Amino acid sequence: MTRALITGASAGIGHGFADELARRGHDLVLVARNGERLAAVADDLRARHGIEVETLVADLSQRDGMQAVADCLSSVDAPVDLLVNNAGSGLPDWFGTTDIADEERQLDLLVRAPLVLMDAALKSMTGRRSGAIINVASLAAFTPRGTYSASKAYLVNLSQWADLHYAPSGVRVMALCPGFVRTEFHERGQMDMSGIKPWMWLSVESVVRDALADLDRGRAVSVPARRYKVLAAFARHAPAALVARQARRGRE
Ligand SMILES: NC(=O)c1ccc[n+]([C@@H]2O[C@H](COP(=O)([O-])OP(=O)(O)OC[C@H]3O[C@@H](n4cnc5c(N)ncnc54)[C@H](OP(=O)(O)O)[C@@H]3O)[C@@H](O)[C@H]2O)c1
Repeated sequence: MTRALITGASAGIGHGFADELARRGHDLVLVARNGERLAAVADDLRARHGIEVETLVADLSQRDGMQAVADCLSSVDAPVDLLVNNAGSGLPDWFGTTDIADEERQLDLLVRAPLVLMDAALKSMTGRRSGAIINVASLAAFTPRGTYSASKAYLVNLSQWADLHYAPSGVRVMALCPGFVRTEFHERGQMDMSGIKPWMWLSVESVVRDALADLDRGRAVSVPARRYKVLAAFARHAPAALVARQARRGRE
């Protein structure tokens, strides 16, 4: 039995991780802003899987929210064995047209929060010489797509280095880079997804299953689904202008 902490666990991919890890018998710490929704998820998981579930209401775009979760990750009495840095959101418009205050909040949520939580987790896990971190990035990390893809590229690069650096100390780090996943993400961000072909959508369950299997295989970067592995290879090797043109299709 181990204990996992998942940010953004009340919906979408984070909820999928909570469900699958609970099914496998892990105790959980669930983090999100909406306390009522988080409590309902926790009740459901306790009832269905008989595990212990703690909830932590925190806004990860705020320093005090990040610190509360970091403190939990530093606990000696109740150590966390797996951190899933997942909480995230998107903006409907391109950088340069958006409000800079919104961009800065996004930067804090997508970059500063995972950085602060990773720091706390690494310090605790390396002391115990065991643990794992999954940073939920995106396939967008391999394409030039404004501030969102830049934030996710930061996470992928840092995860790759951290995995190389800390694996000998018994701590694994993996970036998860899914394509389009059916969650609340796009609706919350008021994004027009009408141009996305049905075959491009992944289910939360398949993304979580592939991610956990890739973590077991020792991968530093996980790209779920064969069709997205092909697109990721294209994005990594094709000329930037061509990749940018392709990446703009579907979602303007
Ligand atoms: N869906 C996709 O197509 C897709 C593709 C690639 C990568 N991703 C990445 O996957 C991750 C999860 O996204 P999702 O698709 O599962 O989105 P989602 O369905 O909208 O869920 C987002 C989760 O994050 C929490 N959250 C949002 N802002 C937060 C904040 N400031 N502080 C704490 N928690 C916050 C939400 O709960 P509260 O609102 O209650 O806080 C919710 O639990 C994100 O990092 C996203 O960038 C998504």
